[in-house]
Amino acid sequence: MINNFIYRNPTKILFGKGQIKHLSKEISTYGKKILLLYGGGSIKKNGLYDEIYSQLKDFEIFELGGVEPNPRVSTARKAIEIIRKNNIDFLLAAGGGSTVDCAKLISVGTYYDGDPWDIVKKKYFPEKALPFGDILTLAATGSEMNPGSVITNIETEEKIGWSSPLAYPKFSILDPVYTFTVPLSQTVNGIVDTMSHMIEQYFNAEHNPVMDGLIESSLKTVMKYAPLVLESPHNYDIRAVLMMSATIGLNYSLSWGTMGDWATHGIEHAVSAVYDIAHAEGLSIIMPNWLLYILPKDILRVKQFAINVMDVNPEEKSDEEIGKEGILKLQSYWKSLGAPTHLSEVGIDSTNIKKMAEIATDRPVLGSVYNLTKNDVINILKSSL
Ligand code: NZQ
Ligand code: ZN
Repeated sequence: MINNFIYRNPTKILFGKGQIKHLSKEISTYGKKILLLYGGGSIKKNGLYDEIYSQLKDFEIFELGGVEPNPRVSTARKAIEIIRKNNIDFLLAAGGGSTVDCAKLISVGTYYDGDPWDIVKKKYFPEKALPFGDILTLAATGSEMNPGSVITNIETEEKIGWSSPLAYPKFSILDPVYTFTVPLSQTVNGIVDTMSHMIEQYFNAEHNPVMDGLIESSLKTVMKYAPLVLESPHNYDIRAVLMMSATIGLNYSLSWGTMGDWATHGIEHAVSAVYDIAHAEGLSIIMPNWLLYILPKDILRVKQFAINVMDVNPEEKSDEEIGKEGILKLQSYWKSLGAPTHLSEVGIDSTNIKKMAEIATDRPVLGSVYNLTKNDVINILKSSL
């Protein structure tokens, strides 16, 4: 059955080549003082940093670089201090999902007297936010058009997702040209993340045929274009397809009336909290093993995925064989792009499996469709070694 739902997405998207020309107009309604937030320096190398300054000549720009992949709460704390000290009017994030995620916490943390970590831990629910927008440079997370953010606390070894209706960007500039310089390994990470978001939403209890069709065709589109971008990383149209797919992949327009499972993301966040690996590396290892684990619980759903997405020929095969073949095809497809398939490839052995399983299951429910216990997670991680 399709659930009732309310959908509203207030983020304005400016998609395409040269859309940065609208930047100053988009910001001008909010004031003149801007904090520019960016990561480890890729925007300086590819010219975006200079472009921002030339577009914003009439504004007073403060800046904070160094947002980490797997962004830290400590960086958000630093930015909040700068904002308060200088009465900043607008926060501009330029970078990948980590920079956008960090901006979200800074935005709501600015108006909270306590520690922003309380917001991530859901001890405080924000009531006011500093307006922020972004210029996205990496197609992956969908953070540019959703209210979610994932923040790491190194001291407590936690990496936690949180969201707030106040955490949508006011606008996102999506110019595929800015993704030309993303290294191929990160490009693959983005593709795996995009596909994982679609797969998480595909595995739902409601089976809305409209969403099923959208997700199946979106996944097939990404799978068609992924190998092409590795051949031609500076091809505008290919980068544009992948950028658009990543945004649609997690702006929740693929979840109308449905509720995805999201257990793989829960497990991955626990793994990357302990080991600080790239989010998508964890996903490409865990998701196929999670699918194999849930196969006996929902053979028909996995079978549909195998046939409609992975093009498995069902003739003379049992439902289980079809499902398994589809999962293994997904795994070898990601491997063919260069993504890891075993935890050992990213330097993880069995030492902390119990700890990661405890972190992953430290929530009311892990896996909204196929609920997982700590033991289930241990088994999935063991089979991922
Ligand atoms: O830091 P800089 O120097 O900018 O370099 C980054 C970083 O090293 C580099 N990069 C980005 N754009 C580039 C570029 N290098 C060259 N040219 C460019 N144009 O790529 C590296 C990774 O960047 P990052 O922002 O960390 O990657 P991504 O966009 O994949 O974000 C990952 C984070 O998002 C979270 C993940 O858990 C992880 O912390 N997620 C956020 C979600 C959300 N908000 O909805 C959902 C996701 O499932 C995910 O959990
Ligand atoms: Zn993800």
